[in-house]
Amino acid sequence: MTPVATAAADGSVARGEPPIALTGVTKVYRGGGGVRDLSLEVGWGEVFGFLGPNGAGKTTTIRLLLDLIRPQRGVVRLFGLDARRDAVAVHRRLGYLPGELALYERLSARETFAHFSRLRGGPDEATVERWASELDLELDRPVRALSRGNRQKVGLVSALMNEPDLLVLDEPTVGLDPLVQRTVHQRLREAAASGRTVFLSSHVLSEVAEVADRVGLIKDGRLVAIERVAEIRARAVHAVEVRVGAAAGLDALADLEGVTVRERVEDGLRLEVVGSLNPLLAALAALDVVDLSVHEPSLEDVFLSYYDGAAR
Ligand SMILES: Nc1ncnc2c1ncn2[C@@H]1O[C@H](COP(=O)(O)OP(=O)(O)OP(=O)(O)O)[C@@H](O)[C@H]1O
Ligand SMILES: [Mg+2]
Repeated sequence: MTPVATAAADGSVARGEPPIALTGVTKVYRGGGGVRDLSLEVGWGEVFGFLGPNGAGKTTTIRLLLDLIRPQRGVVRLFGLDARRDAVAVHRRLGYLPGELALYERLSARETFAHFSRLRGGPDEATVERWASELDLELDRPVRALSRGNRQKVGLVSALMNEPDLLVLDEPTVGLDPLVQRTVHQRLREAAASGRTVFLSSHVLSEVAEVADRVGLIKDGRLVAIERVAEIRARAVHAVEVRVGAAAGLDALADLEGVTVRERVEDGLRLEVVGSLNPLLAALAALDVVDLSVHEPSLEDVFLSYYDGAAR
C-alpha cells in the first residue's frame, strides 16, 4: 500500500511519500513553449520557490501538478499518488491559487469562502473573520467591486483556509502591498512549520528568498538550478573597500580564504569576498583601518550568474 500522509490531532502532518515528485516531465505546446525533462522533489514542511522570468514555464509546471494539463513524457506524483489516476484523492489535500484568478463576480468574499467550504468541509465563520481582519479584506462587497489586490486576497484565503497538506500558489503575492505580503509569507511559514508543504512561483527572487527554504530556477522550460536560500546568500560576493593609515599587513589580506584583490587604491585595497566576511574582519582587526565599506550584491545578481552559466 502507498504510504499516505495524514493530519494528526494537533494539525501537524505526518510524513509519508514526498508531497511533490516530478520525474522527466515534458509538456511542449505547439509553438515550442512549455517545460522539458523536469525532475524535482519537494519535501514535507518545505517552502519551495519556483522562480523564472515571464514565459519560463512556471504556470505550465503548476498546471501539470494540478493535472489541468497532461505531460507528454514523465511522471507527476503528489503524496506518492498519481496526479492523474488519483486526482480526486490528491485534490482533497491540495490548496491551489491559479495565476489567472477567476472568481464568482457576484458573490462577496464571505459567500466565496462559504462556497469553497461547502465543497471541502471548510472553516468556521470565526476563522474567516480572522483571515479577513488580518489581511484587511472586506467580506461583504461583491467580488467584482474589489481591487486587484483584494481579489488576490480572496483567492489566497480560499486556498489557505482549509489548511491543506500541500499549497500550490501561482504568484501569490502579485498585487499585494508589502504589509499584506509579509502577513501572507508568515502564514506560509507557519504552514511549513506544522509540516505542510508550499510550492509557490514568482519572478522576484528577493521576494521568494524571504519565505522559501529552497529555490528552483526555470528558464526556457528547463530547470537550471536548485539551491537552498541559505546557500545562495552564502555564495554572495561582497565588494569590500578598505583604507588604512599604515600599509603594514595589507598585502597579507590577499592570502585569506575567499578574498581576491581587485584593485590597489591610494592607502588601501578593493577586494572581492566570497562567502563569510569573518576571516577578513578578523584580519582587519590587526590593521590600522581608517575606513571600510562593504557592498552586498543583490540576490538577483547572484542567481543571474546561474543563468549565465546555463546559457553558456
Ligand atoms: N496554452 C498554450 N498554448 C501554447 N503555448 C503556451 C500555452 N501556455 C503557455 N504556453 C507557452 O509556454 C511557455 C511557458 O508559459 P508559462 O505560462 O508556463 O510561463 P510562466 O513562467 O508562467 O510565465 P509568466 O511569468 O509570464 O506567468 C511560454 O512560451 C508560453 O507562450
Ligand atoms: Mg505564469
